[in-house]
Amino acid sequence: MRVLVTGAAGFIGSHLCERLLDDGCEVVGLDCFSDYYDRARKEANLAVSRDFHSFLLLEADLADAELAPVLDGVDGVFHLAAQPGVRGSWGSGFGSYLRNNLEATQRLLEALRPRPIPFVFASSSSVYGEATALPVGEGDPCQPVSPYGVTKLAAEHLAFLYAREHGLPVVALRYFTVYGPRQRPDMAFTRFLAAALKAGPIQILGDGSQSRDFTFVADAVDATVRALRAPEQAAYNVGGGTVATVNEVVGLIEQLAGRAVTIERVERGRGDVNHTWADTTRVREQVGWCPAVSLRDGLEAQLRWLEAALGAVTVQA
Ligand code: NAD
Ligand code: UGA
Repeated sequence: MRVLVTGAAGFIGSHLCERLLDDGCEVVGLDCFSDYYDRARKEANLAVSRDFHSFLLLEADLADAELAPVLDGVDGVFHLAAQPGVRGSWGSGFGSYLRNNLEATQRLLEALRPRPIPFVFASSSSVYGEATALPVGEGDPCQPVSPYGVTKLAAEHLAFLYAREHGLPVVALRYFTVYGPRQRPDMAFTRFLAAALKAGPIQILGDGSQSRDFTFVADAVDATVRALRAPEQAAYNVGGGTVATVNEVVGLIEQLAGRAVTIERVERGRGDVNHTWADTTRVREQVGWCPAVSLRDGLEAQLRWLEAALGAVTVQA
């Protein structure tokens, strides 16, 4: 089987490529190496995949590349390429969200119109906004509170429109805050763990009582691979099942790092929701997925990875 993974050089995409290659797939990885964070870090993400003869990397931008040839001979698409990050999506930053999350997705969907193959879209818990009831189910209202969340929801709608109008088999996965080795440098755990290792300060946005349903990257990848065979035209929550507040995470990091950390409390992030918690009944029943990695084990794996990688990667201030 030959599959296309967009966003292949990114955090989740690079893990997905490795899993698919291990499973015996031929993988075409596409990425434009956007400048959201260091190219060197993305190149390092690809190191293992590049060792496989069954891996082909295409450096291309979905927003302007000719896409029909890319899809030649491809049996399924995992669309992870995007401009991620909740808090940076306001103001002048929005152009990049519009281009990479909406225009890019629309161009890919158009290119798929003549060849309706399974399409798995990386959506986000941010489509819900502040949930009216927790845990949140896929049928609950979607009212994003960040421009990023608006673009992910719009892209989901666009994909389901192509499903209805053109018979494209579409599955959307709403990932809940994914973490683990190679996590993006703007995300909380990378920043916290790097600060703990360097004995620098951790910045907590707001009072730290906000909670997330954290999802280990291997679990997110397992759901993604299974989604290719899921009933089409459905959205699924992909939540790791370990809900913790930011304050609790910092306490756990202190235990794992074996030292107390200095905490700076700064303004709450604009577009941050207070709580996320996924109802995963649908994905368990229809996709046969359930998360396997606890927050403690996952955080420890990320800590060990960061310890080894710290010399080679840049952690955004
Ligand atoms: P990432 O930034 O590490 O990976 C995204 C990759 O997409 C990058 O390598 C980037 O260069 C590439 N890209 C961006 N625009 C592109 C374009 N126009 N053409 C080709 N490549 C392009 O992000 P990630 O954390 O791995 O997220 C992957 C996906 O999962 C995204 O769609 C994101 O919205 C979604 N998601 C992530 C999380 C999370 O917690 N990390 C949670 C929910 C949803
Ligand atoms: C993450 C991803 O960054 C988004 O791309 C994704 O769409 C989203 O998950 C999702 O689940 O849909 P977020 O939950 O904000 O977004 O993830 P982190 O950046 O890891 O932040 C987690 C929490 O830590 C947030 O409440 C944030 O306010 C807090 N935080 C973050 C801090 O207190 N300090 C920091 O330095 C960074």
